[in-house]
Amino acid sequence: MALKILLVDPDEQWLSDAKSYLKTQLYEVSTVTNGKDAQLQLYNDKFFAVFLNYDVQNHSGPQVLKFVRTNYPSQRVIIVLNDNKRHESGEVTEENLQRLGAQELMIRPFELTQLKDVLEGHQSLGDLMSNLPKKEGVSEETEVQMTDENFTSIKIDEFYSANSVLFDIYIKLNANKYLKILHAGDAFSKERIDKYKNEKKVEHLYFHNSDRRKFVQYNNFLAKKLVENQNVPAQNKVGILKNVSEKYLEEAFTVGLKPQVLDQGKEVCENVFQLVENSKDLHKLLKSFNDFDPSAYSHAFLVTLYSTAIIKQYEWQSKATIESAAMACMFHDIGKILLPKEMALKARSELTPEEFEIYKTHPELGVKVVETNRLINNSVKQIILQHHEAFDGSGFPHGKKGSKILTLANIIGLVDEFVHLMVEQKIAPTDALKKILVNKQMVARYNSNIVENFIKVFVDPDKIQTKDTVLPSNSRMVPTKKIV
Ligand SMILES: [Fe+2]
Ligand SMILES: [Fe+2]
Repeated sequence: MALKILLVDPDEQWLSDAKSYLKTQLYEVSTVTNGKDAQLQLYNDKFFAVFLNYDVQNHSGPQVLKFVRTNYPSQRVIIVLNDNKRHESGEVTEENLQRLGAQELMIRPFELTQLKDVLEGHQSLGDLMSNLPKKEGVSEETEVQMTDENFTSIKIDEFYSANSVLFDIYIKLNANKYLKILHAGDAFSKERIDKYKNEKKVEHLYFHNSDRRKFVQYNNFLAKKLVENQNVPAQNKVGILKNVSEKYLEEAFTVGLKPQVLDQGKEVCENVFQLVENSKDLHKLLKSFNDFDPSAYSHAFLVTLYSTAIIKQYEWQSKATIESAAMACMFHDIGKILLPKEMALKARSELTPEEFEIYKTHPELGVKVVETNRLINNSVKQIILQHHEAFDGSGFPHGKKGSKILTLANIIGLVDEFVHLMVEQKIAPTDALKKILVNKQMVARYNSNIVENFIKVFVDPDKIQTKDTVLPSNSRMVPTKKIV
């Protein structure tokens, strides 16, 4: 069944355009031009969401909000503001609107496609699925011309689907040319996918970037199920988590760290933590991991996975601490998106001395990227800032030393070094660790306690008698000073 949306706006042309657009996205849309009619609609019908223009007449936006809060407190309302002036002047703020019961604020001008993004951000997997058109069988294949940048690829063997396909699936024919092999809402056809895989030797499937969020949502859900299942080998669990983390990071790095994006990140981090917590055979996999994908997304996933495995060796205070740490791992290098593009493609060893100086600014740039984001806490910001500081003071950007460096930042620093060695030299994890251990200079960069706990990551947990019950003194999570 299609989800119902109510649009309340005095601009009839916009209403008509928005309605047509949302209908193409399979929503059922009602429109009204004033507040009184909006209240009547809400009285008569149930809506998944209401887009309410703040300046609507005949019962103003705030009046309608008040009506909703009193009568239908669970109704989702998204406020649309005609321009930024009153928001900038502080007359209309997110906080005030939230107090009045609104979920979100959109400020004009915005593209109609943003309506879809906002709506999908509020949908659970169940909502997404119930909004699919019900079709029998599978639609015809259709050829589509669209530039390659619009598509996200996924290995054909790593594609999982529900009974109905959540979004359109393509195969690539040529540059900028694709064949849509399954339409959103089609019954999932393994036969069709297998035909391409076995007969045409197709290795990748593609979907539209705007569906990446749905992909992450569905795969997060699957990952959670797999991770909880004791009978599934760690290898399969890590496989799906790697997949979902990479696509998640691709999404976060392109659309930015919006609230809905961060919520998904929390789910990814929780799944990584559960994997480390619940999988008895994980140490074997961590010892023999051999996927040397050099992409930035894969790097961030590996840093998250191994760092979380180290963190598990400590008795941590709270789930919140662990989640903060995993979040910081995911985004530790986010500052690199502000570095010159040509540098991003080079390995660290290939950088010229001048480029290396620029590279050294990425922790501070990272803080800049997340600085104004109220949803990222100060601990995460500090860890991002300090992830290249070294215990012996030889790190950057501030040359901090010893207990001045947060333990979590030092853990990420060690794992970062380790992942670079493993991927760039294509060597086994244990060999990468050995390379660090035999190098005195390298070892001096990390708190010895962390190094010890890293070694334990590769040992069968049943053979480890004791856990560190206390954290090193520099492990405080909440820094005393604010970052400026
Ligand atoms: Fe870094
Ligand atoms: Fe890194």
